[in-house]
Amino acid sequence: MSLTCDCLDAKYQELDQILNQYNGQKEALITVLHKAQELFGYLPQDVQIKAADALSVPLSEVYGVITFYALFSTKPKGKYKIAACKGTACYVRGSERVLERIQKELGVKAGDTTPDAKFSLEVVRCLGACGLGPVMMVNDDVHARLKPDKIPGVLSRYQ
Ligand code: FES
Repeated sequence: MSLTCDCLDAKYQELDQILNQYNGQKEALITVLHKAQELFGYLPQDVQIKAADALSVPLSEVYGVITFYALFSTKPKGKYKIAACKGTACYVRGSERVLERIQKELGVKAGDTTPDAKFSLEVVRCLGACGLGPVMMVNDDVHARLKPDKIPGVLSRYQ
């Protein structure tokens, strides 16, 4: 994913409008961070600093909230968001080897995004499909009963 300068400028203008709306309202921190993440797809450091300034909260508090809530991310996400399950039911059916293969195929570790911004990889505790494990999701698609050898084929559908 590449953003043009115009596109980024527009996002920062919209961010300024949001920050003006909540100026000085410390209690609106989570709301503001949520809106900022919707806008940028993640929370870059300069956005965190702007939010801290506008709401008059310490930057450390902004960072604390971001790291506490799993829905916030400080890294850009890929076009395809992979959620690989490592919950107990998937683990006993071999999710560890599946995850290793995903990481090998993508060349990134869990928590990271590929350099071409196509895939980001997260590990989750349960996707609610324990009987079908090992399971992973790619955006809204569920891929079940995975084996390491199936991973290249699954990923190739998103190339
Ligand atoms: S443990 Fe993997 S889906 Fe529940």
